[in-house]
Formats: sequence, C-alpha cells, structure tokens
Amino acid sequence: MKHLITLADWTSEDVESVLELAAKVKAKPGKYAGMMAGKTLLMVFEKPSLRTRVSFETGMTQLGGHAIYYDMSTSPLGAGKETIEDTVQTVSRYVDVIMARLFEHDAAERMAASSSVPVINALTNYSHPCQILADLQTIKEMKGRLAGLKLAYLGDANNNVTHSLMFGCALTGMNISIGCPVGADYSPAQKVIETAMSLAIKDAEVEVTHDARQAARDADIVYTDSWMSYHIAADKLEERVRVFTPYQVNADLMGLAAPDAIFMNCLPAVRGYEQTADVIDGPQSVVFDEAENRLHVQKAVMLRLLDLA
Ligand code: CP
Ligand code: NVA
Repeated sequence: MKHLITLADWTSEDVESVLELAAKVKAKPGKYAGMMAGKTLLMVFEKPSLRTRVSFETGMTQLGGHAIYYDMSTSPLGAGKETIEDTVQTVSRYVDVIMARLFEHDAAERMAASSSVPVINALTNYSHPCQILADLQTIKEMKGRLAGLKLAYLGDANNNVTHSLMFGCALTGMNISIGCPVGADYSPAQKVIETAMSLAIKDAEVEVTHDARQAARDADIVYTDSWMSYHIAADKLEERVRVFTPYQVNADLMGLAAPDAIFMNCLPAVRGYEQTADVIDGPQSVVFDEAENRLHVQKAVMLRLLDLA
C-alpha cells in the first residue's frame, strides 16, 4: 500500500490496521507529535473544501511537519501549460507526500503512477476514501464493531462517497443497502457494484434498491450525502431536488432504522434537502464526530504510507 487512490486498492487488513492506528493517534496524539518533523505535504485543490483542507493541514502541524496549500487554478497544470506527469515528477523531488482533490479520478491515478512519493486522493468525482476511513472509525467508536452491521445510504448513489462506502463496507464485512432513484445518473454503475462485491469479507452484502424504506429498515447507520456535489452544475438543482426528495432522510425514515441507529453525513449538508434539520441536529446525529475523525485517520494514513508507524 503505497498510495490511497481508492479503497478498492486496499485490503481488509490495510483498512483494519489504519483504523487501529487512527484510534491510537486519537487517544495519544502526543506520542505521534514530531514524527513528520522536516516533512512536507503538498495539498492540491481543484475544488472547494473546509474539512479536508483544515484537517490535513492541522494534522501535518500536529505531526511536526509542514503542509502547502496549492490552488490548482494558480498552477501551470491548471492553466493547461504543464502535464500531470511533469507536475508530479517535479514536486516529488520536493515533498514527501501529496494529497489532491480533483474532478477526474483518472487524474488522481495518473498522479500516483508518476509520483515517487505517496499520493492520497482527497476526493475525486469517483471516490472519497479519506472520508470513508473517518466514517468507519466513527462507526467503530459508536457501535464497537463493524462486521455484520447494516449501513443504509439514501440519495445520490452515482457518487464518490457512495462508491467509497460500498468498498469500505465490503472490506470490513458491513452490509450496505443503497436507496436511490432509478437511472444511471443516480445509481451506482454495475461495475462499481461488482467491484464492491469482489472485496466483500464475512458474507457482507451490497444491495441497491429504489425503495427508500426498504433500504432504511433495521439499519444501524443511516447515511446521506449532498444532492449537489461540487462537480454538479448549478442548473441541475431543480431536477435533482425533485428526483431525490423521496430519498430525503427525515424522522419518518429514521423511524424505520434500528432504535439506536446513528445518522451520518460527510458534510457539507443542506437542511431541508438530503436530510431534515431535526435529523441532522438531533440526538442520533454523529456528523461532527465523523468530521473530527478526518483529522485522526488522515494522520494515521500519512504515517502508514510513509512507513513511520
Ligand atoms: N467531507 C468533506 O470532504 O468536506 P470538505 O468538502 O469540506 O473537505
Ligand atoms: N459528494 C460530495 C462530497 C463532499 C465532501 C461532493 O463530491 O461534493
């Protein structure tokens, strides 16, 4: 495990061991302070961010290293003057680890292929592995285990977070039930479903249904994500609100889940769209715990990719 481009490239053991390290990093951050002394993280952003940018930069500070924020629109790459390969071969001579938030997943793969240092995918249109590692850490904290639980995902399922959840659940033996509208624009592609199923341990199941209530029934975790991901054009709003509204997570849907179910959203969230305010601001919501865990798990990912812990 040299890079983190998609969880589908990692094994169940890789995920388990990073989650174990993340729990240790969270419990005793001082033990890891200074482990990145003299090291530099380059953070390339082609899209907006709050959590990813601030948690990676803070994590690097806490580990004794330095992080550079690099807005892709100010780069020769963003201006169409330089290739991904030349960019990455150059920065590999300066920095120790690269993270990138990009539109095209293929661009993240090309970065990894031409880099001599680890590359971390900080979200592409196709996947968001750092988020799902933080989510798994959160679920493990709340439920004491992962294997055998049921996670219900509602809403936009042709989506980076959904894809990574499918892989993360499969790799940890969790059952995932996806409730999403009919149509390729809103459902996971067959190839993604097959990839998730090929990763599954402990008979973990991957279900896609167009019935929101079926997906939510008896779930231990109810998860939703933005209907208007960063790469979705603003003029799609009206159509998407209409299509996704039957999949909104509200009190009625939460009532179908297990009584002790937790509610998750990777954030940013819009109250009244993918979930109602009473759900995200209610007692079952753990959205800020999952946001916090971005910090801890990403420190663990960097330490592990650099073979420092
Ligand atoms: N969840 C997440 O990745 O948030 P940001 O877009 O704010 O980084
Ligand atoms: N699916 C969302 C996740 C945001 C963290 C997006 O791509 O915008």
